[in-house]
Amino acid sequence: MQSQKRKLADILTRKFGFKDLVVDVPEDYRFGDYSININKIKNLSKDAGSIIKFLDDLWKEKEISSVFERVETVSGYINFYLKEEILFENLKKLALEDNLSVVSHVGKGKTVVIDYSSPNIAKRFSIGHLRSTIIGQALYNTYKSLGYRVIGDNHIGDWGTQFGKLLYMIDREKVSEFDIDKLEELYVRFHDEAKESPELEDEARAWFKRLEDGEERAREIWKRCVEVSISEFDRIYKRLGVSIDFSYGESFYEDRMRDLVKRFDEGKLKGLSDGIDGAKIIDLSDFGIKVPLMFLKSDGTTTYAARDLATIDFRVKKWNPDIIIYEVGAEQSLHFQQVFAAARKIGIVRDDVVLYHTGHGLYLSEDGKKFRTRSGGTIKLEEVLDKAVAKAKKIIKESSTSRGFSQEEIDKLSEKVGIGAVKYFDLKHSPQSNIIFDWDKVVNLEGNSGPYIQYT
Ligand code: ARG
Repeated sequence: MQSQKRKLADILTRKFGFKDLVVDVPEDYRFGDYSININKIKNLSKDAGSIIKFLDDLWKEKEISSVFERVETVSGYINFYLKEEILFENLKKLALEDNLSVVSHVGKGKTVVIDYSSPNIAKRFSIGHLRSTIIGQALYNTYKSLGYRVIGDNHIGDWGTQFGKLLYMIDREKVSEFDIDKLEELYVRFHDEAKESPELEDEARAWFKRLEDGEERAREIWKRCVEVSISEFDRIYKRLGVSIDFSYGESFYEDRMRDLVKRFDEGKLKGLSDGIDGAKIIDLSDFGIKVPLMFLKSDGTTTYAARDLATIDFRVKKWNPDIIIYEVGAEQSLHFQQVFAAARKIGIVRDDVVLYHTGHGLYLSEDGKKFRTRSGGTIKLEEVLDKAVAKAKKIIKESSTSRGFSQEEIDKLSEKVGIGAVKYFDLKHSPQSNIIFDWDKVVNLEGNSGPYIQYT
């Protein structure tokens, strides 16, 4: 399509001597695929006769009449309509290419980092992380096809006080082997017990401190938790057709946070002040944000926000991005306002680098609350995928079209149709709106649905 546009501009310049010609793409397709403003064509007389003659001459050019279906003048514009077969050829080319093709070069020379998916370790991949994963990958693909250098980074939640809770439970219960279900169960049990005995929270903090201090046993158990979780995530990504370039994860920033602290101590970075009980904070009142960012807690352990600051520092140095997008839910709005303001305040990112939080909506229950199953847990994403695939399989098997298909072919097709339905259901909503979780709609295969688009 780009090449057609270039060809058009080329002929008009070469053949008719039009200089500095701008070929536009009208916003409304009814005004053609390309158009030029007649008044901007310098050496063309603007009377009707000359314009008609010009169009006649133009149409005699083979390269024009073989590519365009018609050329019209409408209120000061000459509009060019591409032939359907040209559009179709182009679409076919796009669809057959394995790699995303670049459809525009607006992003040439620019870099965008997209932070997406970013689930937390030791929990199953829940429906809650579907949006970030799907919208994030769509953003990634879009920027890529606009010619940007795009870097996807999965900021996995593999560090923080919650690991103290797990380590405490694993140690207390003398658990030697565990899978992700076991980890989830221990986590839930910890919270139930901590309601009765709040002192458990201190135990958990102590264990997190042991982890941050690098104690060998704490490290060993933590590492196993990470491995068990990552292999589960990878399976889901594969099914979703999602592939994220990097997954540095929060733990990667341990040393880098220490480095930030050192730079504050040496006076190279400014803006850290004393909070209550020896905590370290960054005051953001200059930015109109009342709640200061908590950088270090009173026991000296680091925070989620501190890790995000170290992450910005790292990304800026490693990739020198023009834009960093955080594809994260709206419930973290305050967190990102704080992190962005603090990053500017302490001076680890240039002012012209765009920091953007998409703030997508949540999956809600019908009563408008955050989605929970009857037992109070969240829905596992895999359960949703399996259900959609099973539904697709049933329909495919019952259809006469599948007669003669091998079992393997039916399985493959069901997977594509089922997963496509779930992905499309998510993407067809505006990112900012909340979605009422409804089993029938998520796995819908009719009407405005994924399978319908696939069929088209
Ligand atoms: N792991 C976090 C969560 O599940 C999301 C992380 C988003 N990215 C970030 N840079 N903070 O809530």
